[in-house]
Amino acid sequence: NIQACIFDLDGVIVDTAVYHYKAWKRLANGMGFDFTEQQNEQLKGVSRMASLDLILGWGNITNKTDDEKEQLATQKNEWYTDMINTMTPAEILPGAREFVLSCRDAGLKTAIGSASKNTPTILTRLELLPLFDAVIDGNSVSKPKPDPEVFTKGAEALQVAAANCVVFEDAIAGIEAAIAGGMKAVGIGSPDTLKQANLVVSGLDKMTLEMLEEL
Ligand code: BG6
Ligand code: MG
Repeated sequence: NIQACIFDLDGVIVDTAVYHYKAWKRLANGMGFDFTEQQNEQLKGVSRMASLDLILGWGNITNKTDDEKEQLATQKNEWYTDMINTMTPAEILPGAREFVLSCRDAGLKTAIGSASKNTPTILTRLELLPLFDAVIDGNSVSKPKPDPEVFTKGAEALQVAAANCVVFEDAIAGIEAAIAGGMKAVGIGSPDTLKQANLVVSGLDKMTLEMLEEL
């Protein structure tokens, strides 16, 4: 029986992937190469530095020092935050706010479990902070998904046992993290990609409380 819902942020509550893509693309273009939207899929759920390493690999760039990588990641994040700083609640994905509210009305606890260090900014811009009992993000975890740390910390903060938690995730690494943490996983996206999930829906607009009972 589900007592808590833990939501990934990027790709589940809000579509920030397009902003991440634009910022990373600008960085890559500045170094003289490009990458495809399909390659961009591989960046979903992946931490900032791990994303940079993937992108440098695609550009066959092998000579960057740790300091230079730090600067590149900072530059990307400046471009990214310039874009998210003008986001509005209109950019909340269809049904997301409504589903979180219906969970809360039913007495379920709610939390965010995200890899992003920009989570507080995004939740504030979207006026969603009051909808979550706990927020665990890239600022409070040391091990990135697929390690379950982000969700385990979420369950602890909510004081709900892992087995009574369900995680909503759009990234393969996130589904793996939820399963590794002993939780149920609902995939947001395509069943072909999110094979390990207990259930896959195209978006939270397709999700109902009744479906939680069947997990
Ligand atoms: C994840 C995104 O939620 O957060 C990734 O899916 C992103 O694309 C990661 O790289 C880290 O985000 P940030 O905001 O800390 O750079
Ligand atoms: Mg995501």
